[in-house]
Amino acid sequence: MKLSLVIPTYNEKENIQKLIKKIQEEFKENEIDGEIIVVDDNSPDGTGKILEEIKNIKIIHRKGKLGLSSAVLDGWKLADGNVLGVMDADLSHPTEKIKELFWTIEKGEADFTIGSRYIKGGKIEGWNLKRKLMSKSATLLARVYTKVKDPMTGFFMIKRDCIKNKEISPKGFKILLELIIKADYKKIKEIPITFINRVEGKSKAGTKEILYYIKNLVGYLPYKKNVIKEFFKFAIVGGIGMIINILILYLLTEKVGIYYMLSATISFIVAMTSNFVLNKVWTFKENIKLNAGKKYMQFGLVSISALIINLVFLYLFTEIFGIYYIISQILAIGFALIINFLGNKIWTFSK
Ligand code: GDD
Ligand code: MN
Repeated sequence: MKLSLVIPTYNEKENIQKLIKKIQEEFKENEIDGEIIVVDDNSPDGTGKILEEIKNIKIIHRKGKLGLSSAVLDGWKLADGNVLGVMDADLSHPTEKIKELFWTIEKGEADFTIGSRYIKGGKIEGWNLKRKLMSKSATLLARVYTKVKDPMTGFFMIKRDCIKNKEISPKGFKILLELIIKADYKKIKEIPITFINRVEGKSKAGTKEILYYIKNLVGYLPYKKNVIKEFFKFAIVGGIGMIINILILYLLTEKVGIYYMLSATISFIVAMTSNFVLNKVWTFKENIKLNAGKKYMQFGLVSISALIINLVFLYLFTEIFGIYYIISQILAIGFALIINFLGNKIWTFSK
């Protein structure tokens, strides 16, 4: 098999020569049939000129900064290999892992390999807390769609056949997640890597990338009809829970004669429990016995968090925006429902 490795560059003059040399050495030492395709977006620092002096690489010069994902796709268009790969130019990704990602595909153990920072043996060096938190939150949100632990990494390889006739067009940085959602593959394998924050140059990730990411996430919903279905089931279960709650509150208070604050507590617990059972077996299709105790606790915690969020939004809408409190509550329930669903999908029932 042949590997076509794309390196997108934007202002990487301090890094690019060193990286290409390292990759070429890796190819040679390990007898990997590989080519390097650099896609430069007319970097103001002159990366494009430096590239012209390097031997045995393909170069694409684009007219301006058109974005990381589209650079990767343009690079692949020029590729001869049947395995397509990508790697950052800033020496953040370990070149010594290229062979493992490639050979895993060559040996037929997987058709999609990912240099993963979030599985055992993988790590990140040199990121500040803010960057770590951002990455973690993005990864967490992606769990709605995939079980892959690091769907945000910029280092991966995929068999060309897997994306044949696929419409791939993410905006921004996160091309991998889109491939995970849309490509036709049999097996993904995550291979641990250590990501080392760049020493030279600046990161190009910013607020714009976050907005693109959220937009992309919403855009993937039609590809994952299952998630939409689960959401509606979850909402129905919530509705049933509300009826149960009020019914038991009424019965215990009026017919059994229990003090209404106590019956409210009991009815809340009963409704939550029935919600849990219904969501477990119906919405998320799990065996009722699977980790039931632990999951019941998790479900309870998410429910209580959703309740708090509901109250906070109710207060904000009513007091700050001056909306009539019943309308506020309808909006707030909507928000809380989404959070409640995401929390349980990502955490309680993530498997
Ligand atoms: N051609 C081109 N055009 N290249 C770009 C562009 C662009 O608009 N934007 C960024 N690049 C190149 C950079 O030159 C670098 O080689 C690579 O894409 C990654 O960009 P960085 O700016 O170094 O991104 P990062 O380190 O913040 O993000 C990396 O880690 C993320 C995971 O946390 C990337 O690998 C991301 O893809 C990844 O999601
Ligand atoms: Mn980087």
